[in-house]
Amino acid sequence: MPSAPQSAPKSAQKSAQKAAAPLIITLDGPAGVGKSSIAARLAEELGIAFLDTGAMFRAVACTLGEGAWDWPQGVLQQKLGEYDFTLRGSGRQTELLLNGQPLPEEIRSERTGLWASKLAVLPTVRATMKMAQIFLGRTTSLVAEGRDMGTVVFPGAQFKFFLDAEPEERARRRCRQLQAQGKPADLAAILQAITLRDHQDRTRSIAPMKPAEGAVVVDTTHVTENEALEKVLHVVCGQR
Ligand code: DC
Repeated sequence: MPSAPQSAPKSAQKSAQKAAAPLIITLDGPAGVGKSSIAARLAEELGIAFLDTGAMFRAVACTLGEGAWDWPQGVLQQKLGEYDFTLRGSGRQTELLLNGQPLPEEIRSERTGLWASKLAVLPTVRATMKMAQIFLGRTTSLVAEGRDMGTVVFPGAQFKFFLDAEPEERARRRCRQLQAQGKPADLAAILQAITLRDHQDRTRSIAPMKPAEGAVVVDTTHVTENEALEKVLHVVCGQR
């Protein structure tokens, strides 16, 4: 890209850079709060890509297998170096690929979620994921959803949101989702898994899950997905 002419005022150069920069919207929050569907629908409305960073942690957990969190750091680092994440498409059709391949359905299990949460406390894993996420956001406008998108990965994002809901309601939603897919759903077990993951994600020393500074907090306990999306869109479209 040609550099700005020497004589251009600094403010003009700055706004030109701003116009060229990808739009980044962050959506953080706990498990089962509906982040993924809201992020995908928001991305669809805006015609940009959607980055499910939980899927990145899940894909790594799934590929490495049980117990990887106890491996020596060097071994883990070497394995992580073999992973390359890319994005294809936009909106609801956005596809996250690992080494060029779609992610397996298995990443969605509760067990993989727990493994991902265990791996996510490790500095090596977090640093690798952060680098990959920043790299994707450098060239692509994104709705990025996860736990630390607004706090750590994209602190300069144009819009930041934190979605929350009571654990019991999140467990009920997850249960309904599984039932709709014809899968077994044990409410008590799901609530227990969600509570454990919340604890791990909120209390870890690196990048704990919390609302970013300046994030708009949306409590979805008593609102439908459509209403939550409306609130988010209202903020984004009202300020663009
Ligand atoms: O959003 P999810 O349930 O698919 O995420 C799975 C786990 O991955 C979550 O419990 C913690 C970890 N994670 C993280 O630490 N940081 C992110 N940005 C996204 C997910």
